[in-house]
Amino acid sequence: MNDVQAMERLGEARGQGLAAIETASSLEELRAAEVAALGRRSPVAEVQRSLGTIDLADRPRIGREVNRVFEDLRAAVAARRVALEAEAEADVALTDRIDVTLPGRRPPPGGLHPLTSTMRAVVDAFISLGYRVSEGPELETEWYNFDALNFPPDHPARLTQDTLYPDVPGDLLLRTHTSPVQIRTMEAQEPPIYVVIPGRCFRRDTPDATHLPVFQQVEILAVDEGLSLADMKGTLEAWARAMFGPDQRVRIYPDYFPFVEPGAGLDVSCFLCGGRGCRVCGNGWIELLGAGMVHPALFENTGIDPERYSGFAAGLGIERVAMLLHGVPDIRMFYEGDVRFLSQLARSA
Ligand code: DAH
Repeated sequence: MNDVQAMERLGEARGQGLAAIETASSLEELRAAEVAALGRRSPVAEVQRSLGTIDLADRPRIGREVNRVFEDLRAAVAARRVALEAEAEADVALTDRIDVTLPGRRPPPGGLHPLTSTMRAVVDAFISLGYRVSEGPELETEWYNFDALNFPPDHPARLTQDTLYPDVPGDLLLRTHTSPVQIRTMEAQEPPIYVVIPGRCFRRDTPDATHLPVFQQVEILAVDEGLSLADMKGTLEAWARAMFGPDQRVRIYPDYFPFVEPGAGLDVSCFLCGGRGCRVCGNGWIELLGAGMVHPALFENTGIDPERYSGFAAGLGIERVAMLLHGVPDIRMFYEGDVRFLSQLARSA
């Protein structure tokens, strides 16, 4: 072998050896690559054995090159071994930590917020009676929220519904009830009108167990020929039965709201004790909503003929219904976002 051949063989031996070592994907493969590149039958070992046939003048140079190739290949083996051992260790650690035979962790299923499910139940009950959903803006004008509903400008009834006046142009306020949508609906369509109106309302109230400055109502409005107080009572009774059970009874008593005449409050028989009287209801009745026959002033304000048409309206608080349904003692619990509370009342969608 001459020196040129020897250098060529050594170059190949290093290239092939390094490639095999660096691509070894397991410790076994690395051992095989090591034997092939550095073992007794490796190309470098062969060159080393034939050093004696090389010219004396070239021999030291070739000898040094043989040593260098050996060293490079050994260093590559050592480096690859460290890497593969680290990988193997990481694999072991992972399988130690993860018991792959355990069932997967189930993400908790989402559920409807109790106020959402209550709102839907109330609205659905009216939809099944033939009512349509009507909605209006949360930012209202003084006219729709008060004047058109027959609240005179300085009437004390306005004081019971103090609200928040945003700092924007126009006489805008955050609506204190869903009743302004009665006006908007009567302006927009001719009787017969049968609508159910869900929505968020606002009042300047300090939060306590039964008050929040933001809450939700459902309003209903029926305007048709020949509607009477009996229709109102029958409708609300049908709704109460759909909501609370088939044995529900309702009773009405006089109450005052500027936009109804006569105005009424409505009680439902207690769905906890069946009307016998218990800790929640006291005397067997639960006060639930305000209602009444639409005041003729509203018909005048919206261009509906009060000689031809009559109507009834009602409004109720969703939080109150949800508190009664679920026995929740404090309205604030619905808005605190405590999953331990909410998950007990969550309904699937
Ligand atoms: N808007 C009234 C309130 O928030 C509730 C109400 C009472 C609505 C009587 C009505 C009604 O439609 O007839 O206090």
